[in-house]
Amino acid sequence: MSLAGRSLVALGDLSTAEILQILDVADGMADAVGFDDPCKRTPAEPLDRILAALFFEPSTRTRLSFESAMLRLGGQVIGFADPSGSSVSKGESLADTVRMAAGYSDIIVIRHPLAGSAKVAADYSSVPVINAGDGPHEHPTQTLTDLFCIRRAQGRLDGLKVGLCGDLKYGRTVHSLAPMMARFGAEIVCIAPKELQMPERWMGECQAISGNRPAQVGSLEEAISGLDVLYMTRIQRERFDRPEDYERVKNVYILTPEIMKRGPEGMIVLHPLPRVNEITPAVDADPRALYFKQAAGGVPVRMALISLLLGMAEGSAS
Ligand code: CP
Repeated sequence: MSLAGRSLVALGDLSTAEILQILDVADGMADAVGFDDPCKRTPAEPLDRILAALFFEPSTRTRLSFESAMLRLGGQVIGFADPSGSSVSKGESLADTVRMAAGYSDIIVIRHPLAGSAKVAADYSSVPVINAGDGPHEHPTQTLTDLFCIRRAQGRLDGLKVGLCGDLKYGRTVHSLAPMMARFGAEIVCIAPKELQMPERWMGECQAISGNRPAQVGSLEEAISGLDVLYMTRIQRERFDRPEDYERVKNVYILTPEIMKRGPEGMIVLHPLPRVNEITPAVDADPRALYFKQAAGGVPVRMALISLLLGMAEGSAS
């Protein structure tokens, strides 16, 4: 089925062939924008399309990379980075805000603190909607960016051993990534303290997809030695009900050059960012630390997705 005219609310809505199609188109976009060599960039033709970016929650990478992606495609961007500057502050509903944005644009990107909000937006929109993170639920374009980075670095997506470390309870990026890696036959190791383990919903989904339940361990030092991918995450302070609960776990994992010595040479370290203290800056110089390159990959990936949903890109999901 073509991606043209569809919304992206959850990765479960996409077949594996469609995901690979997005990654293939993203590889082409990466060449066009000089992702590996800025000297090879080819300027875009002007594009008569408008993207509306509705950000009800803070963002650096997702918002800026979506805006950059649309500008690199030759299109234009409208929207808000803070709902206090919109009529949401006067009490306008999400449904009405989305209806208005759909009247002013060709595609909508939405980030919102409530799980399920992107689905509501897609239901009320007459143009495609892309979920840019809905509370603790999902962050599908982050996962597409993660897959793009993993495939380019490891040369494949199949059969990797992937460690997910940190706040697996509230971290929506891992809720999207874990089932996706299960689709590609990954051996998944969840590295988290008891109170921040991956919710049963996602553990069960991984098991249903691959037949294997992810392992659950507490020690990063022990788990790191066999990994192809170490995916670090931030402890999500803003999603804790009680500050004392956050204080108890905020320093539970801190990746240092000492711990990196235990990791394989071919391992890569990813992080959706922003980081707080879970990766010390001294790790940044390690060639296995790919998190900034990973974030930069958000531009070609989002260019590919916008193009496909707007029916502008070539490519097949066969
Ligand atoms: N990775 C990510 O979603 O970052 P932002 O919150 O800055 O968009």
